[in-house]
Amino acid sequence: MKLKPNKILFITSFIPVIVFKVVTRVGETTLAQAKVATVVGLILALIQFTLSKKFIKHKNYLEKTFLGFLGVGTAWVYFTPPHLPSLFVNHSTDLLYFSLFLTTLIPQLFGYDPFTYNIAKQMAPEQVWNTTQFRTINLHLTYFWSGLFFINFLSSWLGHGIPLLSIILPLIIILGIGLPVVRIYPKYYLKKNFTSQPIDPSLLPGTAKELISQMPLGFHPEAADQLKAEIQFDLSGGGGGKMVLSISEGKCIVREGEVFSPTLTIHSPADIWLKIARREIDPARSLMDGFYKVEGDMNLLMKMGELFHHPTKGSEQILTQKGEKKVMKILAIQGSPRPKQSNTEILLQEFLKGARSRGAETETIYLKEKEIHSCVGCYTCWAKTPGTCVIKDDMPEILEKVKGCDILVYATPLYNYNMTSLLKAFQERLLPLLDPHLIKSGETYRHPQRYEVKRKMILISTCGFPEISHFDGLRHIFRHIEQSGQVPLVGELMMPAAELLKQEGLKDKSQDILQSVYRAGIEAVRDGRVSKETEAQIQKPLITPDELAEMANLWWDSHLQGITQGKPQDGGTEDMRLLLRGMAATFNSQAAGDLKATIQFKVTGKQTGNWYLSIENGRCIFNEGLVDSPILTIKTPSEVWLAIANKEIDGQQAFMEGKYTATGDMNLLMRLRTLFGSQRS
Ligand SMILES: Cc1cc2nc3c(=O)[nH]c(=O)nc-3n(C[C@H](O)[C@H](O)[C@H](O)COP(=O)(O)O)c2cc1C
Repeated sequence: MKLKPNKILFITSFIPVIVFKVVTRVGETTLAQAKVATVVGLILALIQFTLSKKFIKHKNYLEKTFLGFLGVGTAWVYFTPPHLPSLFVNHSTDLLYFSLFLTTLIPQLFGYDPFTYNIAKQMAPEQVWNTTQFRTINLHLTYFWSGLFFINFLSSWLGHGIPLLSIILPLIIILGIGLPVVRIYPKYYLKKNFTSQPIDPSLLPGTAKELISQMPLGFHPEAADQLKAEIQFDLSGGGGGKMVLSISEGKCIVREGEVFSPTLTIHSPADIWLKIARREIDPARSLMDGFYKVEGDMNLLMKMGELFHHPTKGSEQILTQKGEKKVMKILAIQGSPRPKQSNTEILLQEFLKGARSRGAETETIYLKEKEIHSCVGCYTCWAKTPGTCVIKDDMPEILEKVKGCDILVYATPLYNYNMTSLLKAFQERLLPLLDPHLIKSGETYRHPQRYEVKRKMILISTCGFPEISHFDGLRHIFRHIEQSGQVPLVGELMMPAAELLKQEGLKDKSQDILQSVYRAGIEAVRDGRVSKETEAQIQKPLITPDELAEMANLWWDSHLQGITQGKPQDGGTEDMRLLLRGMAATFNSQAAGDLKATIQFKVTGKQTGNWYLSIENGRCIFNEGLVDSPILTIKTPSEVWLAIANKEIDGQQAFMEGKYTATGDMNLLMRLRTLFGSQRS
């Protein structure tokens, strides 16, 4: 084991008093010997004091106590009348314990750090020093030592001349009780105050990153009160990443990436954070043991247990008619012809994640990957082979799954105000589930279900236009299916202008929507339906219809002019004009406050041009050309600024490396990340 200077100096701090005791006890103690002992002890204590002043930042009180004790002792034996020096020598042990008793009792009464605090500081990482827990543990331990030293003082004083009481008992108290308690008590205190039963890992997301992204769902606004803070997670290793939790006005949102100056930063291996979340290891203890590191407001870290509860309190199950518990099964039918880059898929998977967090079992069937022919209208499934379709493709297997599920989710992009043809073909092929007879239901006739149906339906859809009214037709169809098929429609999750989901600059707002979709998944399992409030949250427009139209038109123009090469679903921006227009659309008026400024972009490189952004009255407007006296001028090749926006290179680093230049208000340059895009102040 390698000893550090602070440990060496802690051990050597006892040497002056030990030497003093040894010298006074050699042979018959004489006054001359006592004088030598105190002076030698005092010199050693001064050397020790000087050395630790030079080498240790956080000095403990022991050296001062020993120095004071030997200083008083030296004065005592040299300058008191002849009969008194022997009193000090004979009672030096009692007096030493009494000095230690005062040292452990007095400082904290006058607002100074308790005795053990500075000793513990030398052992624990700096991040924990200011936590309430660390201070409380040390205060408790200091009072505990104070009690021990007082007992030792009494024992040594009253048992003067009796080795058992004056030497052995005090040593037993220090070595047998004091030191073990110092080792055990912090663990005991933290265990008592922080840990509870481990959580079943299957109830929590599998990766730390997913776990962080779900934290807003367990957020407690009451506990947050007026808190405004940003917590940066820097999780290394598999399942990790950089995530930011922003807390403001009783709301918490999460996003990927980094923030300029977070209130608290947590650097942790992803697996350690997962273990902490599962309550397999204690957060405070692991911090003290250096398993993870934090910077910033430690009290916020300690408050996190109050601020966030696990969104997964337990596995919600459904009851069968016999009253037995059974896991809810959700079957999702995904009807987008581009399943891998699908907007609808983003919503669907978030919904299923929420449902799984409540114990549901989920399966997604991608129609694009299946062979499902349209119905040929032969009615064989009604006449010759009731309940069985004549077409040999993937449908019979899927039908069995449909029969057994508790919730059937239809997920489709809006195509021509309707579902996609993939989903339409699937729907037609549900015919074997119906009985051919006509029965009256209310005012209209319908076909009864061939098999007992306990399932419910949920519709998830996205569209390109910004208004919710575009879904009217699709909704109408599903409400009709609900009535005629007697399968309750328990959720309609519709997101207009869904292409914006992939816009980097709108990540925050998209995240709000996705959180609502996740909540919808929870509600579907927990309450058996999605609430109207949650449905309304999902429909909220990310930007105004006019802004959307302007940006969409710019995008298509850019594509037609060959500037943008990627597909609409690719997400990244390839056009400076579009990027700057997008910045104006994603302008964060809250972060701007009453800022009035103009930012001129002089763009060279592949796409040359002059454009500027004017900020005033909480609005940002994109303009073509040059403006007089801009507050900030950015000269950049288009490739550089686009690479920054697409997160391919770091903006600050690019600036340092001179890849772009900025003149004017440099504070404004530093604020760009919070004023635009996914950064919130
Ligand atoms: C053939 C076709 C028809 C479309 N029809 C509409 C429509 O009627 N109304 C609308 O708002 N968007 C329409 N869109 C846009 C898509 O609904 C929208 O981009 C959707 O988010 C795509 O979903 P996906 O990524 O899951 O495939 C259409 C797109 C295509 C390719």
